[in-house]
Amino acid sequence: MGKTVLAVIIFMFLVVSSVSSEEITYRKHIKPIFDSKCIACHGANSAPEYYAFKEEQDKWLAKGQGMRMDTYSHLIFYTAWPDTGSIMRRLDDGKNTKDGKPGNMYKYLGSTEEERQRNLEIFKKWVGNWTLKRWAEITKEDMNGIKVKY
Ligand code: HEC
Repeated sequence: MGKTVLAVIIFMFLVVSSVSSEEITYRKHIKPIFDSKCIACHGANSAPEYYAFKEEQDKWLAKGQGMRMDTYSHLIFYTAWPDTGSIMRRLDDGKNTKDGKPGNMYKYLGSTEEERQRNLEIFKKWVGNWTLKRWAEITKEDMNGIKVKY
């Protein structure tokens, strides 16, 4: 085997292992996805706080708007508490849902299946414990697995 080939193989190995062991953070990985895929309907300019959305749900749905999620503090509201498991239920591709259907926000993760899967994988690693459970069902152990690093 030529030296160059060997060097390339070693280099590839280092790249792959550094990516897979890299810690997923909101600032580095999640925010860029959110800003390109979700912000149009969940951004500060147009989307209300969750409870304001709930109070006038019909009005916001008629405008095609969701609730505000465009900061770290807003987004984690939808992981562990109080809207426990919401991100996971909505973004799941159907592998963990009861009816086997993808959550209704999964389609926004990308324009191709490959892109959606790639971004879902990043969200899964960021959350840490991909549980779809609600507050009433979740255990302390489940909660301990939720990472959501800033
Ligand atoms: C085209 C507009 C649109 C885009 C793009 C969009 N959403 Fe939504 N989203 C909505 C609307 C409207 C709702 C409220 C209706 C519903 O619950 O389905 C919603 C609801 C949600 C909820 C449920 C919150 C709750 O009530 O528990 C989550 C979580 C969510 N979106 C996450 C995302 C994420 C993450 C992305 C990007 C990958 C995204 N959405 C992209 C429009 C959008």
